[in-house]
Amino acid sequence: MATPASAQTVVSIEREAEIGTIEPEVYSQFLEHLGGQVYGGLWVGEDSDIANTHGVRDDVFAALQALQVPAIRWPGGCYADLYHWRDGVGERTPRENMAWGGTEEPNTFGTHEFFNLAERLGAKTYLNVNLGSGTVEEAADWLEYITGTGETALAQERRANGRSEPWTIDYLSIGNETWGCGGRMRPDYYADLYTHWASFMFADEQKPVMIVAGPHDGNIEFADEVLDHPMIGDVSSGISLHFYTLPTSDWSAKGAAIGFPESEWASALERTLRMDGLIEQTLGVIDAHDHLGEDYGLYVDEWGMWVDETEGKSSLWQQNTMRDAVVAALNLNIFHKHADRVPMTNIAQMVNVLQAMILTEGEDMVLTPTYHVYEMFTPFHGATSLPVELDGPDYRYGDIAFPALSASAARMADGSLAVALVNADPNSDHAVTLERAGARSVSGRVLTGDAMDAHNTVAQPGRVAPQPAEIRVDGDRLTASLPARSVSVWIIK
Ligand code: AHR
Repeated sequence: MATPASAQTVVSIEREAEIGTIEPEVYSQFLEHLGGQVYGGLWVGEDSDIANTHGVRDDVFAALQALQVPAIRWPGGCYADLYHWRDGVGERTPRENMAWGGTEEPNTFGTHEFFNLAERLGAKTYLNVNLGSGTVEEAADWLEYITGTGETALAQERRANGRSEPWTIDYLSIGNETWGCGGRMRPDYYADLYTHWASFMFADEQKPVMIVAGPHDGNIEFADEVLDHPMIGDVSSGISLHFYTLPTSDWSAKGAAIGFPESEWASALERTLRMDGLIEQTLGVIDAHDHLGEDYGLYVDEWGMWVDETEGKSSLWQQNTMRDAVVAALNLNIFHKHADRVPMTNIAQMVNVLQAMILTEGEDMVLTPTYHVYEMFTPFHGATSLPVELDGPDYRYGDIAFPALSASAARMADGSLAVALVNADPNSDHAVTLERAGARSVSGRVLTGDAMDAHNTVAQPGRVAPQPAEIRVDGDRLTASLPARSVSVWIIK
């Protein structure tokens, strides 16, 4: 049932209170060797007809640059626990990618290509080492190869392969989903392995932020048992959480990317909003462990929409619609609310996989609605998150009900406010009033689509694109009508 068009939500921002800094890394990306992501999507090789710089597509690179990508997690995911770094330096060794359908992995995109890409983008690096099928010696050697400053054989080998200066490893995880594809380990076994391996993860003089591979939505107790290890806090600064939006919450029939019914709009967003509770639950588990430092963090290093695969496309390719844009913005509002405890998140994934920023087709590139949300939210990078209260109607579908609007706000370095507003109601525009806005001037952009599954294609690349927003200044209030299924960002000076 449609909400009355007169529905009114009042938003109040507590300007005097501060939640904490929204670390730019909340906007980080995830780059796994999977489907059409690395090969074709990002990397085409120097000999390609597609314009590239040292093998990386120029169009995709420029699009990522505009997002100010703060950090990239690589090489997986499940693939990380199959990755042997020596296959991807010097003479390359092709392998089968057994994590993702046995496709051929040429290993032409390896350590040099990843670190050079991150360096060109100005992005921090998040390396996931292979615990599942690797050895502690192999991982320790990799770190020395990357970071070695001396005359050691590994540092010299890196130089011989074309890189004289060491690169920086900013974040490091040992293993991925170790309860599942990463080795089906019991939590105490993983905790023993983690503390053992971490003792040998020397990165020359560097001190990467050490992250423990944590739970997903269905096994939060895994975190509890891993963190019980009395020495885990000595060798790590935080634990990860994975949580995906499956429209149906059923892994065997997740729901379609396009042409879905309203019931799957409602159930997808209801599931997305569970992120808030999962973060609180996992933080509760962290806080119950007194031996961890007060600033022990929660890294949501995989999240996003996951729908059924599309026939004829590469693994985990999915179309990205206005529903994805709303899912992204709802999650980002939740991360802003937890800015004091969640220093990084990584949407899954960057190009041609799951909730991608970018889809490519041969030489063509399409920016997705999710891309536009990330671009619109760049003012939040490094801003100070402020508490926000909303008073307004719910969106309802059958037994599902949740607030139609979601909001977050942050103070930027120049004192301006950035406000993100999501209208999650697919049917009705909603009037919004921002109280005590204190605005001398306001500008804004809105992203909406003509249908729940509105999306961009090579033929119609601009069907979903940000437009200027109409915002009225009324004394100390700002008012606007937020279109059905929309994401807005306002800048208030
Ligand atoms: O993002 C796709 C996969 O989802 C990752 O490889 C894995 O960690 C998770 O199960």
